[in-house]
Amino acid sequence: MSSRTHKIAVLPGDGIGEEVVREGLKVLDAASSKYGFSYETKTYPFGADHYLETGVTMPEEVFDEFRELDAIFLGAIGDPRIEVGMLERAIIGGIRFKLDLFINLRPIKLYAEHLTPLKDKTPDDVDFIVVRENTEDAYAGIGGHLKVDTADEVALQTMIYTRKGCERACRYAFELARERGGKKRLTLVDKANAVRAQSIWTRTFAEVGKEYPDIEQDHAYVDAACMWMLKKPEWFDVIVTPNLFGDIITDLGAMIQGGMGIAASGNIHPGKVSMFEPIHGSAPKYRGLNKANPIATIAAVQMMLDYLGEKEAAVGIEGVISNLLSSKRIPTLDASSGLGTDEVGNLVVDELRKNAG
Ligand code: IPM
Ligand code: MN
Repeated sequence: MSSRTHKIAVLPGDGIGEEVVREGLKVLDAASSKYGFSYETKTYPFGADHYLETGVTMPEEVFDEFRELDAIFLGAIGDPRIEVGMLERAIIGGIRFKLDLFINLRPIKLYAEHLTPLKDKTPDDVDFIVVRENTEDAYAGIGGHLKVDTADEVALQTMIYTRKGCERACRYAFELARERGGKKRLTLVDKANAVRAQSIWTRTFAEVGKEYPDIEQDHAYVDAACMWMLKKPEWFDVIVTPNLFGDIITDLGAMIQGGMGIAASGNIHPGKVSMFEPIHGSAPKYRGLNKANPIATIAAVQMMLDYLGEKEAAVGIEGVISNLLSSKRIPTLDASSGLGTDEVGNLVVDELRKNAG
């Protein structure tokens, strides 16, 4: 328990964002009474509706406001009424880049055997974490089009990697492997055989690795890593990887832990305001139907509390999620569970209160 009051910005966003965030906040509230921490939230309206009404995606001054806070809790962004990717770049990308949230942390953990599509794999086999670099690569926004819509069109998007970016991601991942104290294995996932610029990752990884002789340095090209994630997930402990590959392999990871309904992430700058969100999108067609599973968002609350130093609360929420899934009281992680969004949230809250001690 910490004596600080955690200041949290809440951005429900689009589609199912509002419903799943509502459940996440219920769990946050229950955890605060149980574990005795306090928090304040301020809700922001950014997303498609706000943009259509005002023409503004994210006002610049909001980023300064965010810098004064401890965490940002985001639901989902994206709406078919708006040009593809525009809101995502401005809001999710804006937060990641402008607040320099250079780590995107994505745990891949299986809580119950029946949730994975992998044959004969159990929770013992699927428990690793991906450290995705979060501010560089093809996401940096360097590129453009020439002679658009002509036979001579040229499209360009540059994958950039800086020594600083690679180094801080690698260091974070080595520290994490040490802290986890498990297999103590860090796997660098890249494609340096084909994308030669990525040798900056190979070299930086080896250099930073000299400071961590207790951590095994492992390597896989991204195509092989995808194969191994399915064939032998038990190999992995911590993975560090550039932004774009991190995006791709963590959707694959989400599937082996049970689907997008459980996958959460933290966008982190250690010691500074950081952002927590489910990995899934806004699923606009489910908006307002009370069908979306809020577990991924609740897992994002768990990660946020862990980041804020409320370790006991984070462990408590994780235990409840794990029990509800392994006992099949929450039978599936998608809209087929037969449970409403609010019912899933209530189950987590009730269970958390029950274990009060
Ligand atoms: C994610 C998402 C985003 C990304 C999109 C919405 C821009 O897929 O958080 O994984 O590509 O990073
Ligand atoms: Mn993604």
